Amino acid sequence: MKKITKAIIPAAGLGTRMLPISHAVPKEMLPIVDMPAVFYLVEEAVKAGITDILIITNRDKDAMEDFFDLSVEYGEALTAKGKLDEAKRLRDIANMANIFFLRQKETKGLGHAVGRARSFVGDEPFAVLYGDDIIFSEKPVCRQMIEQYHAYGRPVVGVKPVTPEQIQKYSSMKVSPIEGSQNAYFCDDMIEKPKPGEEFSNLSILG
Ligand code: UTP
Repeated sequence: MKKITKAIIPAAGLGTRMLPISHAVPKEMLPIVDMPAVFYLVEEAVKAGITDILIITNRDKDAMEDFFDLSVEYGEALTAKGKLDEAKRLRDIANMANIFFLRQKETKGLGHAVGRARSFVGDEPFAVLYGDDIIFSEKPVCRQMIEQYHAYGRPVVGVKPVTPEQIQKYSSMKVSPIEGSQNAYFCDDMIEKPKPGEEFSNLSILG
């Protein structure tokens, strides 16, 4: 089975749940300590063996492209002050992976955003990481999912158990157990934002 080396990060959503900040600052650029959220996604993908990443953006999200560019001026200023470690840190960000950007010209939903990556992925298997869902784990979740893909040869989604109140805001997966596995299931159906009573299980899709 072919190695997975490509990932798509759809990040062209409006982020209405993060207003008012998100109309001026892309929510993927909101900091977690001193790094923007999207950095952690790229880092996770790279740790999982991904070398080529396509970030789907829109006309208001150039800050993401700037962040992953080489910051020549800052690099020079830090080097002049002898802050070589900090200059290297900026260079390392620019060299993390081959990062490509493509604009989704109209906000037509997540599926449409992923569809924009068709020519980037061609016939290859690929990973998708939502631009706004960060999961910290000793073994990167992206790597865990790639392992499942190689084990079963099928598309894989990450899930997490959520409360009955939360499930209405997310999705619910219809699953059947896989013999010999404690945390992998076959998924037979799913429902997005189920009304009370419509849910299949407490398992919801992660980003
Ligand atoms: P969400 O459903 O979280 O939408 O998208 P959103 O616009 O980011 O946030 P809210 O609901 O308005 O607060 C899931 C993922 O799909 C991307 C988002 O950027 C996010 O990573 N997305 C969504 C796109 O790339 N394009 C779209 O048209 C919609």
